[in-house]
Amino acid sequence: MSLDGYVADRDGNFDWAAPDEEVHGFVNDLERPVGTYLLGRRMYETLQYWEDPPGLADEPPVIQDFAAIWRSADKVVYSKTLANPSTAKTRIEREFDPDAVRRMKAAASRDITVGGPHLAAEAMRAGLVDEYHLIVYPVVVGGGNRALPDDVRLQLELVDERRFRGGAVHLHYRQST
Ligand SMILES: NC(=O)c1ccc[n+]([C@@H]2O[C@H](COP(=O)([O-])OP(=O)(O)OC[C@H]3O[C@@H](n4cnc5c(N)ncnc54)[C@H](OP(=O)(O)O)[C@@H]3O)[C@@H](O)[C@H]2O)c1
Repeated sequence: MSLDGYVADRDGNFDWAAPDEEVHGFVNDLERPVGTYLLGRRMYETLQYWEDPPGLADEPPVIQDFAAIWRSADKVVYSKTLANPSTAKTRIEREFDPDAVRRMKAAASRDITVGGPHLAAEAMRAGLVDEYHLIVYPVVVGGGNRALPDDVRLQLELVDERRFRGGAVHLHYRQST
């Protein structure tokens, strides 16, 4: 996200958040323990690239690693419009049912993530999110797609933070009890 809280600017661009090798490696390690991604349709459309990136064998190890992490996770895509998934290990849900996600969490042996922001807002409103990971880039974009919704209030506890050489900062929060 940008310092002013957007995951994409008004033109839909987020090239200013392209991870360098250090950030990519860190994100890979964050995502490695994840068993299931809960994805809004728009986030899924962005991430499905990783199913079969062109020229993957010639890419740096950090890119190959992320592609393998993506392929190994289960995906649940929330959408009223998407007819069929274009990736393996993927199912589509037409509604976000908080009770179903609560049951999924209770039964899960590995972590579950939720994104992009519109879908994540529903999980936040339903009290389903235990932890938040934000990577803040040193850029102000002035508007666009908000990382965090307007109408949710949370009390959080800072668990960890990390500063990257390129100027980004990772913030890890836990829902305060
Ligand atoms: N900064 C970065 O590093 C970065 C990285 C990746 C992506 N991005 C940006 O983030 C965007 C994705 O985030 P987003 O917040 O715009 O979208 P999102 O939350 O990923 O997806 C929204 C879509 O999810 C579906 N959905 C949401 N709530 C639902 C519900 N209750 N029941 C059923 N379906 C539901 C709907 O799909 P339907 O319309 O099909 O019903 C809705 O249009 C991308 O487009 C990209 O621009 C930024």
